[in-house]
Amino acid sequence: TLIPVILSGGSGTRLWPLSREKHPKQLLSLISEDSLLQATVRRMDGLDDIDVTDPIVVCNEEYRFVIAEQLRVMERKGTILLEPSGRNTAPALTIAALTALHQGDDPILLVMPSDHVIVDTEVFKKAVQQGVQLALQGRIVTFGITPDKPETGFGYIQTGDQLDNSDAYSIARFVEKPDSTTAQAYLDAGTFLWNSGLFLMRASIWLQAIELCHPDILSACRTAWNGGSVDGNFTRVEKTAFEQCTSKSIDYAVMEHIALGQNPQLPAGAVIPLTAGWSDVGAWDSLWHVLPKDQSGNVSQGDVLLHECNNTLAISESRLVACVGIRDMIVVETPDAILVAHKDQTQDVKKIVDSLKKTG
Ligand code: GDD
Ligand code: MG
Repeated sequence: TLIPVILSGGSGTRLWPLSREKHPKQLLSLISEDSLLQATVRRMDGLDDIDVTDPIVVCNEEYRFVIAEQLRVMERKGTILLEPSGRNTAPALTIAALTALHQGDDPILLVMPSDHVIVDTEVFKKAVQQGVQLALQGRIVTFGITPDKPETGFGYIQTGDQLDNSDAYSIARFVEKPDSTTAQAYLDAGTFLWNSGLFLMRASIWLQAIELCHPDILSACRTAWNGGSVDGNFTRVEKTAFEQCTSKSIDYAVMEHIALGQNPQLPAGAVIPLTAGWSDVGAWDSLWHVLPKDQSGNVSQGDVLLHECNNTLAISESRLVACVGIRDMIVVETPDAILVAHKDQTQDVKKIVDSLKKTG
């Protein structure tokens, strides 16, 4: 069996003012009527030859009712695994793996971030089917995207040898979030793929890897999970023990070590190239990229009037928004805040949110 594990932890500050602490981006209907989380839940529907179970959604305690409601309206069940506070993705996956082992006979986990768009689901499902074969051999499988810019917010995977009878490669090197000079060098080298943030592995293989790389995370998670305290769809872990976990991502905690092959006991990695219209909807410019545009490249939602504008994204929630003669701009209106930003600088929206947090 395959259990989708959906990681829903981030708050998405770069999509402010639509994304707020109380309404993080993965729970918003940014692209379609489905929220990004709901679209992620549907992504594995109709996977041939593999028994896919209800997902495990790992999220903060604070979002439990919104997420339960989003599953309910889709008539979906699943386990909502609650973290008392965020400790990044390595601990989140570790408690999910413990839950999964409890539910089934060493199931395969398909780890999916909740805030990505994948346009071509059929291509993605084929890649997952190939990946399952590799995961059954005990590998940790990643999905690689051909890079088109020296993005520093992603992991880079250098492909090694092609694996027999598949489109997959071994992982020669895995470098999480390189600086911009290094990212440019990787782009120029042409042998690197972006890590998509999707992973496939047996539950026991993840636990083996985290035990070797970060035994402290495994032991804190085991103590915190301890059978899990089940309350309907919700499963809770013990707060004090969980908060002992080092805050680390899957990428830094495990993937970088796997690729270096330092430890022969570590499971082997694999990367499957993926061309399925993947994007990480991290900031407003990437949202502009994935949304349908008019002839002048504008995206508009809500009560918006545009005159001679180009490549602009304008969203109105509560008032009429009118734009004249602007290009490459982001304009987002909500009842209590308005964002006007240049499309080339949308990463910096985070800085505004950080300063708002400081001033309260
Ligand atoms: N449950 C839970 N708890 N989920 C979390 C936590 C946490 O503490 N922290 C992050 N997440 C979720 C986020 O909501 C997101 O869906 C996913 O895990 C990945 O976390 P990000 O914080 O968005 O990671 P990233 O984008 O910086 O980097 C990862 O994704 C890139 C591709 O988008 C890495 O895997 C990179 O290597 C990769 O290139
Ligand atoms: Mg991300």
